[in-house]
Amino acid sequence: MSILRLVFVTSIFSLAAIAFADKLVTYIFGDSLTDVGNNNYLQYSLAKSNYPWYGIDYSGGQATGRFTNGRTIGDIISSKLGIPSPPAYLSVAQNVDDLLKGVNYASGGAGILNDTGLYFIQKLSFDDQINSFKKTKGAIITKLGEAAAKKHFNEAVYFIGIGSNDYVNNFLQPFMADGQQYTHDEFIELLISTLDQQFKRLYQLGAQKMVFHGLGPLGCIPSQRVKSKRGQCLKQVNEWIQQFNSKVQNLIRKLNHGLPYAKLVFADTYPLVLDLIDNPSTYGFKVSNTSCCNVDTSIGGLCLPNSKLCKNRNEYVFWDAFHPSDAANAILADKFFSSIFASSPSAAPSPSP
Ligand SMILES: *[C@@H]1O[C@H](CO)[C@@H](O)[C@H](O)[C@H]1NC(C)=O
Ligand SMILES: *[C@@H]1O[C@H](CO)[C@@H](O)[C@H](O)[C@H]1NC(C)=O
Repeated sequence: MSILRLVFVTSIFSLAAIAFADKLVTYIFGDSLTDVGNNNYLQYSLAKSNYPWYGIDYSGGQATGRFTNGRTIGDIISSKLGIPSPPAYLSVAQNVDDLLKGVNYASGGAGILNDTGLYFIQKLSFDDQINSFKKTKGAIITKLGEAAAKKHFNEAVYFIGIGSNDYVNNFLQPFMADGQQYTHDEFIELLISTLDQQFKRLYQLGAQKMVFHGLGPLGCIPSQRVKSKRGQCLKQVNEWIQQFNSKVQNLIRKLNHGLPYAKLVFADTYPLVLDLIDNPSTYGFKVSNTSCCNVDTSIGGLCLPNSKLCKNRNEYVFWDAFHPSDAANAILADKFFSSIFASSPSAAPSPSP
């Protein structure tokens, strides 16, 4: 089991260091696509999903704070890596033994920018999440000492999926200041320069192997389609997202070049998600232009307890107006995992230097 895991990981990062890690530790940062319950701890947050019908297809059938009917992509990737899905940071923040096994800082409504998702009242922005990671580091140093803690953080893998809300719950909302204040070119510069600082800060704190999840074609999610005349994808939005993705790739190249131990990877999910939307039947889906929960609005858009669900949840790419269904996450995680982790079966861990 650990051999398998090792092959997968060394295949992208070609790292000898991980060969000595008997258990892969992952730290996860992100938004509602990866939140596994942090927002349940934020008393006043409006970005919550801890009510039916969320979780209806999760083990136990209960809402957990995940913004989907079942598992997140992170849950599925973790299970493929043979590790438990890291718990919500706020559920284990006081327990250093849990923090050592990896945690998930993701928060629904969060963005690269602090102002993103302002109207959710409470959420943990990427900067807030990095602050929590810094606290985690302090607790682990106290427990293990500087040297062992450094090794721990250098060997861990960091998954980052953030930026969708900077569009959907910021730039694309007419009542938010950023869309009026900035042209898209200016906005994207702001996003990229902020992200640059955030990657560097994580690196300073010991993160080296970071996987950044590129954004999907947000112009095609139900909450954006409703803004068009006939329910089609918003072309302009998709063009902006592709620009963002390409600028992040440049940034990652620059950082890999400039930071001596950085091993950043860009996971390009855009083409994958677009294919799922354009050719749903190839993947066993029937509907990709509206949500199973039938809540296609550009604000709100979450599946409320009084909503009427579709008959067959596995036939829908989208669960609510923003988030993929468990069935779509399973396909995405599969592709993601094999493009990022899996390699030719002959790939062997590199020897230690
Ligand atoms: C977000 O707010 C924190 C403190 O309130 C600040 O340190 C940080 O620089 C801000 N980040 C951005 C991207 O504005
Ligand atoms: C989705 O597409 C189908 C057919 O392809 C169409 O009949 C339906 O009206 C579309 N739904 C929305 C919400 O655009």
